[in-house]
Amino acid sequence: MKRLVILISGRGSNLPSIFEACERECWPAQIVGVIGNRPGAAGLDVARAHGIAPQVVDHKLFASREAFDAALAEAIDAHRPDLVVLAGFMRVLTAGFVERYAGRMVNIHPSLLPAFTGLHTHRRAIEAGCKLAGATVHYVTPELDFGPIVAQAAVPVEPGDDEAALAARVLDAERRLYPTALRWIVRERVSIDAASGLVTQLDGEPQWLR
Ligand code: GRF
Repeated sequence: MKRLVILISGRGSNLPSIFEACERECWPAQIVGVIGNRPGAAGLDVARAHGIAPQVVDHKLFASREAFDAALAEAIDAHRPDLVVLAGFMRVLTAGFVERYAGRMVNIHPSLLPAFTGLHTHRRAIEAGCKLAGATVHYVTPELDFGPIVAQAAVPVEPGDDEAALAARVLDAERRLYPTALRWIVRERVSIDAASGLVTQLDGEPQWLR
């Protein structure tokens, strides 16, 4: 059984679909912890609703990024995780932290990477006149929003979309995308080429959704 620890900052929008897919599809995996960095985040209640007592490591209580990351790593490691899943975790992580979980930490980012790394992805996609937007699941490397891409979901940008409308459409796609990518990973159905960093789905399943 692979042990998954999920990190959140806000609503935990991706938690229900991950919990449900893990159970419904009988993943060889168990969600053993949910950790947030903001007390009172709505996602903590979502974890409780799925039978997990969430933990909080409040970043505001730490004087430096390094100190916060050390406390966070301690909380994560107590769960002996095989995979750390960032699901709306809005903290920039130190290189040391990222190295510690190299090859066993994934993130979902609300754009079709490598376009629109960072924040306000939907607004920027609309302003750029993009006709497609989407989300990307990738392994986490020290460079922000840049690691090996596991899977992507594309959605249309509709005429008249505002940021909220596009965000909702992308989030809906994320609810299918993240469980798909995680299922592959926990079943060891992806490989990463060491030289190129490219990720291949070993059964030939499409690595994109729409
Ligand atoms: C999603 O857009 C995800 O891509 C990004 O954070 C958002 C989810 O945050 N990483 P939340 O769970 O709704 O707070």
